[in-house]
Amino acid sequence: MISMQQISKQFGDLVVLKDINLEVEKGKVVVVIGPSGSGKTTLLRCLNILEKPESGSITIDQQTIDFSRKVSKKEILSFRKQSGMVFQTYNLFPHFTALENVMEGPVTVQGVNKAKAREKAGSLLSKVGLSEKLDVYPYQLSGGQQQRVGIARAMAIDPKVMLFDEPTSALDPELVGEVLLVMKQLAEEGRTMVVVTHEMKFAREVADEVIFMDNGVIIESGKPDELFSRPKEQRTKEFLNLINQ
Ligand SMILES: Nc1ncnc2c1ncn2[C@@H]1O[C@H](COP(=O)(O)OP(=O)(O)O)[C@@H](O)[C@H]1O
Ligand SMILES: [Mg+2]
Repeated sequence: MISMQQISKQFGDLVVLKDINLEVEKGKVVVVIGPSGSGKTTLLRCLNILEKPESGSITIDQQTIDFSRKVSKKEILSFRKQSGMVFQTYNLFPHFTALENVMEGPVTVQGVNKAKAREKAGSLLSKVGLSEKLDVYPYQLSGGQQQRVGIARAMAIDPKVMLFDEPTSALDPELVGEVLLVMKQLAEEGRTMVVVTHEMKFAREVADEVIFMDNGVIIESGKPDELFSRPKEQRTKEFLNLINQ
């Protein structure tokens, strides 16, 4: 479903992704871990071309973009519709209700009529456990509830893949579980997901594969049990020791 081939990205002189190759099969969940600054967010942003790599190619489902040639804006916009992104901070529109936040994508991106978008937004919000909160504004919601609206919003354009960038790291500890539970349900439904998170329990239970990144490079990858219990590379061991303290 997702294939990244020899992706490189730099900001000025700083090389942030070096020759990244990544394959994610349909319905699989890949968790990405790694130290701050290792390029995890940039990797996700390249997947929906919020950042444009200098070289390499990315395929999602049937559509491939080769960054060694000129890529049109139209191509980028059409490619971007294939993924739904959930951010660390929820980025909801403060002047829109929960329902309006979720309707916005279908109405503006897909040209869906309002009645239909409203119905769909309602069912997505029920799915993330917020059927009682359709008409409230973000400031009236807890962080965990806001993030669940964020997940419903990302799903509203029927993306083929879901991308999560540390979706629980801004939350109070007692609110983390409700967001992870929704993500686990999506995984169980067979959605293809790439998740940057350091929630090890979630990774062990839900991930098909864990990738450890450092310094813009994939150092190693494997099944969660293997990578967490028997890491092969010294840098992976050191990182796991740090986060397990
Ligand atoms: N827009 C940008 N301009 C310049 N440097 C950036 C930009 N975004 C990220 N970086 C740098 O790229 C590196 C990787 O960042 P990031 O992908 O955010 O890492 P992570 O998500 O793993 O913490 C860091 O050194 C960061 O400072
Ligand atoms: Mg990041």
